[in-house]
Amino acid sequence: MAAAASVMWRFLGVMIALQLIMLSSTADPDMLQDICVANLTSAVKVNGYVCKSSNVTADDFFFAGIANPGATNNTIFGSLVTGANVQRIPGLNTLGVSLSRIDYAPNGLNPPHTHPRATEVVFVLYGELDVGFITTANVLISKSIKKGEVFAFPKGLVHFQKNNGMAPAAVISAFNSQLPGTQTIPTTLFAAAPPVPDNVLQKAFQVDAKVIDDIKSKFAPK
Ligand SMILES: *[C@@H]1O[C@H](CO)[C@@H](O)[C@H](O)[C@H]1NC(C)=O
Ligand SMILES: *[C@@H]1O[C@H](CO)[C@@H](O)[C@H](O)[C@H]1NC(C)=O
Ligand SMILES: *[C@@H]1O[C@H](CO)[C@@H](O)[C@H](O)[C@H]1NC(C)=O
Repeated sequence: MAAAASVMWRFLGVMIALQLIMLSSTADPDMLQDICVANLTSAVKVNGYVCKSSNVTADDFFFAGIANPGATNNTIFGSLVTGANVQRIPGLNTLGVSLSRIDYAPNGLNPPHTHPRATEVVFVLYGELDVGFITTANVLISKSIKKGEVFAFPKGLVHFQKNNGMAPAAVISAFNSQLPGTQTIPTTLFAAAPPVPDNVLQKAFQVDAKVIDDIKSKFAPK
C-alpha cells in the first residue's frame, strides 16, 4: 500500500516537472486549429490577428523576401533586419515561429536590442560576427561566430551583433514567436515619440542636457 502511494507521488512529481518544462519552453500561446491565416486588413484587435474567412492559398505561407541580401548602405548602423514574420507571412498567425535575415556591412552593427516575446537563434550564412547578450546580473556572454555556426540569445535579454570583418556578413535568425517585437536600446531611449524627457535620460546616464541633446540629434528624423 505504502509502496503504491510512493509510486503515485513520484509519478505526480514527474508530471508536474514535465508541465513546468513545457510551460517554461513555450513563447507564443499554442494554436487551437490547423491554420488561422492572418487577415492583416481586418481592424479587429485580438491577441495576434483574426483568421481569414476564405481564399487561403500557398502564398499565405510563402515569402521570398529574405532570399537576397538586404541593402545596408543607407542604414545608420550598417545593418538591415528583414523580418519574415506574420506581417509578411500571414500563415504564421498562431504558429509561434518566425525568421529574420540580418545583413551587416563591414563594421556594421545590429545595436543592443531586446525581443520582448521571443528567444532568438542565429545561423551565420557568411562572414564573421562578434555577438553577445547581457544577463539580468549584468554579465556579458559573448563570442565570435562565423559561417555555418549558431548562437542563441535568450528571450528578453539585451543583445547585439557586430561585423568586425572586412567583408559583408549575414545571418538567418529564428524566433519562437510569430512577431517577436524589437526594442533597440538607442532608438527606444533617444528617438521615442513623444520623446523620453531629457531630465529622465540625464539622471539615468548621469550626464548633462547637452550630451542628451547631442545623442537625440543623431537619431532625429532627417
Ligand atoms: C478581411 O477583413 C476585411 C475587413 O473586416 C474583410 O472585409 C475581408 O473580407 C476579410 N478577408 C478575408 C479573406 O477574410
Ligand atoms: C476571394 O477571392 C475571390 C476571387 O479573387 C474574390 O472575388 C473574393 O472577394 C475573395 N473573398 C474575400 C472574402 O476576400
Ligand atoms: C545602396 O546599394 C544599392 C544596391 O546595392 C543601390 O541600388 C543604392 O542606390 C544604394 N543606396 C545608397 C544610398 O547608396
